[in-house]
Amino acid sequence: MRHQVCIIGGGPSGLLLSLLLRRAGIDAVVLEQRTRDYVLARIRAGVLEQGLCDLLRAAGVGKRLDAEGFVHDGTIIAAHGQKVHIDFRALTGKTVTIYGQTEVTRDLYDELDRTGAPIFHEAEEVALHDADGDAPHVTFRQHGRSHRIDCDYIAGCDGFHGISRRTIPETVRREYEHVYPFGWLGILSETRPLYRELVYAGHERGFALCSMRNAHLSRHYLQVPLTDKPQDWSDDSFWAELRRRLPPDLADTLVTGPSVEKSIAPLRSFISEPMSWGRLYLAGDAAHIVPPTGAKGLNLAASDVYYLSRALIARYTGDEGLLKSYSATALARVWKASRFSWSMTRMLHDFPAEGEFLQRMQRAEVDYLAGSKAAQTALAENYVGLPY
Ligand code: FAD
Ligand code: DHB
Repeated sequence: MRHQVCIIGGGPSGLLLSLLLRRAGIDAVVLEQRTRDYVLARIRAGVLEQGLCDLLRAAGVGKRLDAEGFVHDGTIIAAHGQKVHIDFRALTGKTVTIYGQTEVTRDLYDELDRTGAPIFHEAEEVALHDADGDAPHVTFRQHGRSHRIDCDYIAGCDGFHGISRRTIPETVRREYEHVYPFGWLGILSETRPLYRELVYAGHERGFALCSMRNAHLSRHYLQVPLTDKPQDWSDDSFWAELRRRLPPDLADTLVTGPSVEKSIAPLRSFISEPMSWGRLYLAGDAAHIVPPTGAKGLNLAASDVYYLSRALIARYTGDEGLLKSYSATALARVWKASRFSWSMTRMLHDFPAEGEFLQRMQRAEVDYLAGSKAAQTALAENYVGLPY
């Protein structure tokens, strides 16, 4: 079969790219190795920048987001005895929206189904061929049958563990990586959120984050050693540790209950350059990973998709310039968001091997943040998302 664009990966990057291209009359197919139920069961991000919200609206999937998403005007940074309110709206004129990645993905699947977009689930042994030539093709197996897709371009949207990035020869690819010596234990619980805004807490026992999905569903995280397993943590031990890491006035209002999901994610900063090779273009986690502090992972995937969809649409109307500059354009924003995620991680986590000097630096940084409108503006500007 033949399609103009073959998209590897049916996560948020691949689905959103497919829909934006379809809206512009470009025929794209999506190959996803998992079942749809598996993709929809993954609990991940929850904070959407305005840029992502606008992109979802442009793709025609903004209705439920606008009806059910919660607009947040600010956040609380509670660390080293300080409680700093960062007022996004007052400082930047922008806000963020709380709407789960699961819901974004569901909306995208529903709309792609409605428009009859081709998506192959349970696509196995996906392989890219001649991506650096003029006539690339992709092969895969599904339910025991072999398939071949000839295309003009391949979009690698298959996440960190995907095959697209690794198709780029090692002689061309340069990877930058920083692995953090801890993970995040996350729970989802049908309880009232701690506070009307997200609370990022830095404590000598480790970082904690109180987030939410809606008024009855909270999402909380704790910094934990990489050796911990989710089953090591009972619900009671999670809540007790979370309470210890929060400022007392907030801890007193914490509502606890059974968890409905519990998982541990390692933290990593990773960037692979370049983000294109021949007719292969990478987007989202396939090209970069940020630590979750600062909620940038999904939002970076969205800016990549914005740049790539714009470039492909321009190409099909005769202008190849934006495709040529795609990698450099996307990477400029990726590095800045990675810097922000790294600096938030550094400011708020316990780094056991680094000793008292770092702790005092962290204290000084939060102290500076508390007293400086410039510092608060810098944090807010990055948190709500740098312009596309
Ligand atoms: P993915 O969501 O990883 O999608 C890639 C898709 O490609 C997957 O569906 C995968 O099954 C498919 N695939 C992989 N290999 C192949 C193959 N060979 N063939 C075909 N398909 C393939 N970000 C935040 O902002 N906040 C958070 O709280 C947060 N929490 C996270 C928790 C976890 C455990 C993880 C892993 C990520 C988290 N992120 C978070 C990051 C955010 O979820 C990602 O940045 C976002 O999912 C990126 O979307 P993507 O479509 O690029 O990649
Ligand atoms: C969530 C995750 C984050 O990494 C973050 O910084 C904020 C919110 C969340 O899952 O709700």
